[in-house]
Amino acid sequence: MILVFLGPPGSGKGTQAKKLAAMHQWPQLSTGDMLRAAIKKRTPIGIEAERYMQDGKLAPDSLVIGLIRDRIREPDSKPGFILDGFPRTVTQAEALDQMLTELNRTVDLAILFQVPDQALIQRLSGRRTCLNCGAMFHTETLRPKNEGTCDTCQSPLVQREDDHEGVIQKRLKIYHEATEPLVEYYNKNGKLKIINASLETSQVNALVEKTLAASAQ
Ligand code: AP5
Repeated sequence: MILVFLGPPGSGKGTQAKKLAAMHQWPQLSTGDMLRAAIKKRTPIGIEAERYMQDGKLAPDSLVIGLIRDRIREPDSKPGFILDGFPRTVTQAEALDQMLTELNRTVDLAILFQVPDQALIQRLSGRRTCLNCGAMFHTETLRPKNEGTCDTCQSPLVQREDDHEGVIQKRLKIYHEATEPLVEYYNKNGKLKIINASLETSQVNALVEKTLAASAQ
């Protein structure tokens, strides 16, 4: 199964991709995580991407397409994978279709996580992420047992640089301009499913599983 998770920043793509990956043994391919790892290692890709990400802008298409091109050829992607945050432009979606055609594969479903902008700002500004294992918490809705410390690995929790309110507004604007056209892209080819992602995490997860089960029939 090849899944595309579409949706604005903070709509819960990463949260749901992690749950689904654990449940079905499909890797979560998050271009955001890949870019943050590249920044941490100070690779040429990371250094180039950093200035775009800090500012809430999209990294260049060619850069993220290159990352995905290599990743989907790895052996663990064979049974299927979840694309979390890719594609984000029509150019990326067309490149993905082309790459998959070369591998004799295709996108099975594109799931849109729908949440109003106001709720997204609240979710993102309160998000805290573990520096070590990437686990996510929230200052109000998902507090760690000990403030500032990851429940899983006891490493420090940090606020992502792009989760400050001014940058969040920019990311939302870019989402509406550059990424929202993908809703029509996947609707046209009959692959789009829309989910109410304003519900509680467990309810959203149940909706995702229901959507997958319905598409398998
Ligand atoms: P990326 O890391 O992909 O960020 P994003 O798409 O902006 O998404 P987020 O990770 O912010 O949110 P999410 O939808 O995964 O929600 P989450 O589950 O974390 O990209 C970062 C940057 O990298 C981009 O701005 C760009 O610069 C660059 N980039 C990445 N991919 C690119 C590409 N393809 N092309 C070009 N540039 C690219 O949840 C958010 C919070 O809400 C958490 O605190 C969570 O606990 C909480 N939450 C989740 N679900 C619920 C719920 N149901 N109810 C209440 N709270 C919830």
